[in-house]
Amino acid sequence: MSTITAAITAVGGYVPEYVLTNEILSTMVDTNDEWITSRTGVKERRILKEEGQGTSFMAIKAAQQLLSKSNTNPEDIDMVIMATATPDMPVASTGVYVASQIGAVNAFSYDLVAACSSFLFGMSTAAKYIESGRYKKVLLIGADKMSSIVDYTDRTTCIIFGDGAGAVLFEPNTEGLGVQDEILRSDGIGRKSLKIDAGGSILPPSNQTIADNQHYIYQDGKTVFKFAVSNMADVSEKIMKRNNLTADDITWLVPHQANKRIIDATSRRMNLPEDKVMLNIHKYGNTTSATLPLCLFDYENQLKKGDNIVFAAFGGGFTWGAMYVKWAYDPK
Ligand code: UT7
Repeated sequence: MSTITAAITAVGGYVPEYVLTNEILSTMVDTNDEWITSRTGVKERRILKEEGQGTSFMAIKAAQQLLSKSNTNPEDIDMVIMATATPDMPVASTGVYVASQIGAVNAFSYDLVAACSSFLFGMSTAAKYIESGRYKKVLLIGADKMSSIVDYTDRTTCIIFGDGAGAVLFEPNTEGLGVQDEILRSDGIGRKSLKIDAGGSILPPSNQTIADNQHYIYQDGKTVFKFAVSNMADVSEKIMKRNNLTADDITWLVPHQANKRIIDATSRRMNLPEDKVMLNIHKYGNTTSATLPLCLFDYENQLKKGDNIVFAAFGGGFTWGAMYVKWAYDPK
């Protein structure tokens, strides 16, 4: 009996139409294009402006795009994993709603929350369900409406984040393609450095928490930056060594798009030239759970069967990790 591996067999993506440029942000807070570009690499980001729409709106669009592109019947999907840090609402799972809306009526679903590592951790979870042999089609969606938790008077956070969604389909593979290895880590030391203070069970919403702006994302950027640079590079280098991969063997690095300087530090440690690094931070900013699938979405036509790909992410919590994947199909 051949071993089952879990391969990505389709990709979809969606970003909202509204473009928030550095120039526009410069009229909102004390900042400028030169500072934002040189310190982060972001030139513009997309913002979901549709009244009354949340993360599910974008997740549904990305999933529908994947389904129609890959000619997949939603009724054949066994499971929908919704990776997000900005669910539509507390308690009622966003993934469950998304699954119903896309017609995945035979699937079960839940949300997976690990800040900017949500999608990477979701890849691991999706792969395990496939490798078990019990599930044949697992849809993993990464989507975040970061604009719903960003304070647009705080120049240290509003310049980084954007909204977006991406989706991938995992299916069994018997040629040895798909997920090969992973290193996933977390450390609660990061809880105080990247968080939303109010709205959870420790500090439920009140007039006071609203008056104190405690429902917005807070980030100690310097600390997060330091941990991100060393940890993302560490696991990426480690997964290469563990799998005897040299820089020549690696076709692509798919890094979380939080800051171009963090991406550069990781690729430098891996000895990878720039043209092997997927990059879209300039267009979308940090879309949290959507950065990795949106990279695949943008670069899908350049991917070839057998390509060696390293995914790497770092996020709040702290959470971080790297995965080694062999790409399973040629561009259509
Ligand atoms: O997705 C996973 C989690 N997030 C991350 O990985 C993000 C990690 N952190 C970062 O990317 C960076 O720390 C930031 C982009 C958030 C900030 O960049 P930095 O190079 O660490 O800047 P800084 O906070 O050290 O600030 C340097 C200076 C300060 O001024 P002084 O004290 O030197 O006079 C800030 O007040 O830049 C100032 N500053 C700004 N100036 C213009 C901070 N934000 C801005 C701004 N425009 N938007």
